[in-house]
This record gives sequence, C-alpha cells and structure tokens, in this order.
Amino acid sequence: MRVTHLSLTDFRNYANAEVGFVPGPNLIVGRNGQGKTNLVEALGFLSTLGSHRVSTDKAMIRSGQDAGIIRARLEYNGRDILAEVQLNRSGQNRAQVNRSVIKTRDLPRYFSSVVFAPEDLALVRGDPSGRRKFLDQLLVLRSPRLAAVLSDYDRVLKQRNTLLKSARASGVRGNQLSTLDIWDERLVEFGSEIIDERAKLVQQLGEPLRAAYRAVVNEDHGPALVASLSILGADEDADLGVLPASVPQSAASVESSTNDIFRTALVGLRKRELERGITLAGPHRDDLVFMLNALPAKGYASHGESWSFALSLKLASAQLLRQESASGDPVLILDDVFAELDLQRRARLAAAIGSFEQVLITAAVLEDVPPALVAHTIHIHAGAVIDG
Ligand SMILES: Nc1ncnc2c1ncn2[C@@H]1O[C@H](COP(=O)(O)OP(=O)(O)O)[C@@H](O)[C@H]1O
Ligand SMILES: [Mg+2]
Repeated sequence: MRVTHLSLTDFRNYANAEVGFVPGPNLIVGRNGQGKTNLVEALGFLSTLGSHRVSTDKAMIRSGQDAGIIRARLEYNGRDILAEVQLNRSGQNRAQVNRSVIKTRDLPRYFSSVVFAPEDLALVRGDPSGRRKFLDQLLVLRSPRLAAVLSDYDRVLKQRNTLLKSARASGVRGNQLSTLDIWDERLVEFGSEIIDERAKLVQQLGEPLRAAYRAVVNEDHGPALVASLSILGADEDADLGVLPASVPQSAASVESSTNDIFRTALVGLRKRELERGITLAGPHRDDLVFMLNALPAKGYASHGESWSFALSLKLASAQLLRQESASGDPVLILDDVFAELDLQRRARLAAAIGSFEQVLITAAVLEDVPPALVAHTIHIHAGAVIDG
C-alpha cells in the first residue's frame, strides 16, 4: 500500500500542510526542529493510534488549538481510500474513512505502517511496557479485531484494581470477594487470549528476526525472543538481570491451557493482591526478553548491537505484515535512522528495505541517506512544506 497525499491541520507545528508522496522512496529533509518527525508521526498515528515519541495525543494538537486533523489519501488493491482522524483536546478523537464516521479504534484496519526511529533503542534497553506495546500494536495491525480484546482487558483490569483497592481500604468482605471472582473470570478470558496471541506472534517473529539481523549486521549473533510470563511467576518488579530458567516460551506449550494457568495464578496471588490493591498477574505484567549471543540484550549488548536488534525487530515485523497482508506492503517510515548508523549498516538497511512499495525517510543531512534511497525529495522548513 502507499500514501499518495497527506493533509494536516493544526497538527504539531503545522497550521496547514499538503504533501504528496510517490511510490518507492520519499526523502523528507530539513534542518532539525523544522517538522520532519511531526510529518511522519501523523502517518504513524493513523496505523497505530499512537505516536513513536509521546504517550498522550494532546501533545500532537498545535499549541493554542482545540483540535488537530490528520487526513491521508491511501492507495491499495486499486482502491483509493481517504482516512482521517481529528484529535480533540477535550473529548474523544473522531475518525472517518471515505467521509463516513468509523470507530477510532478501527482506523488501523485501513492503514499499515512500520516506524523505525531512534526511540526504538528503548525496545531493547527500556521498560517492559515498551515491548508490550510493540507486540500489541503489531497484533492489532495483523488482526484488527484484537483491538477490542485489548481494550476489554484494560477495562476489566481497571475495574478489578478498583475493587481490590476498595477491598483493601475497607478490610476484605465476603461479598466483595464473590464480585472479584466474576472479574477474575473476565480477566482470565481476555488476558489468556492476549497471552496466546502474543506467544504465537513471538514464535512467528523468530525466523524473520534472525534473517533481518543477519542482513543488517552480516553476522549471526543468534537473536531470539523469549516470553516472560507473570502467570508463570515472572515478576515485573524484580529486574530480570538473567533469564528465569523455568519460564517456557509460551504458556500454551505446557500441558494445561493458558486459562487454567492464569486462574491458578490468581488464586495463589489473591492474598498479595488484596494487600497491595493491584492485579499482579496477566499480560499487563509480562515481558519479552531479547536474547543475543545467549545473553539478555538488555544489560549485555553493546550500543551497536542493541541498535541492530531494534532495527531487525522492526524489519521482521514489516516482513510479517508484508507476507500476510491482502493490501500490499506496510509503508515503512524511517525517522532519523540513518544518522545513527555507520556506512555499512546504512547500505545494508537500504538493501533490506529497497523492495518495499513505499518508504518515507526523514533526514537532517541528505548525505546520510544511501544514494539508492534518494529520489523524490520533500523540503521542510519551519512547519511548512517547501515542495512535494
Ligand atoms: N503541539 C505543538 N504545537 C506547536 N508546535 C509544536 C508542537 N509539538 C511540537 N512542536 C514543534 O515542532 C518542532 C519539532 O518538530 P520535529 O518534527 O520534531 O522536528 P524535526 O524536523 O527535527 O524532526 C519544534 O519546534 C516544536 O516546538
Ligand atoms: Mg526529527
């Protein structure tokens, strides 16, 4: 698939912007702070309902304005699709496809992109929440219906935590515990589906990850992904310096079902949960351990290796999306990535992405981008598109 046109209204530092894109590589250049990242962040939002650099949508609305609009013309399967979202400072965001209102959470059904950015280093070095978000966004891009499961789980989790807190505050009463049992069932139902879907995804990412890493680094450091599951006793609060040996790749690979394991874990944790007033097991407390040369990359891998791992993971997800998609390749967005890489890795990355239908690249320095990717150039200056 590809983006043919992007219109922005009151998005970040753009009052109004109109940009056309061509198939293949598109290079967005301009000095730092001019609005290159803002432009591609807008497209990333359409496919993930999130930003690769902030966790709140409000920061994306132009300062002093009440609403910002992202509108993109997309093309795939011979169809022309107009997807748009209005970000509101107060109240819900609103989405439309071909001028008809849709549920905002359904927007990712229409547009698929993979963003590569310096922030990806946090996938390797940062907190588990970033890795969970990575997996969940990829799950939704592949199976949009999972957006509903994820939001159902969040809702149940919040309600269950509220109940645990009030049980703690008031001293536990029997009737509260029976209400808790009802929430447990729902938590287990939605949570187990998420755990199983993530496990499948992690398994499917394995081979493309190894291939991508070899392509970027030209060496085999045995990159691998290992699930660390709270329902099997992995604890987010304990820093995983080394991998707990007893944690299998996925809950489903042991004999009982994920649901059973989850239910049993909650029974075992109930006393501690009532003491702390929070839910201690479930996909919201899980992690994904990145292994390199048989050691956890976090804490062991060098800066260069960590970068290569993050890049390879993004390449692997692009590869998965490309294999399965009925609407063509995801649009690849490389935000300021080439400046971070040495010459060899720049060239290898360029080769690895060269065959994707459309690639959008931002760079402050044109010379950082391999010649093979320099074709259509869009210049950005102070929140305005100079040409394109
Ligand atoms: N909500 C906002 N309203 C107005 N300006 C913003 C907003 N968010 C960011 N900016 C401005 O956007 C600029 C940064 O744009 P960015 O796309 O990150 O630059 P770069 O070209 O380096 O990628 C900064 O000048 C920042 O102040
Ligand atoms: Mg930038």
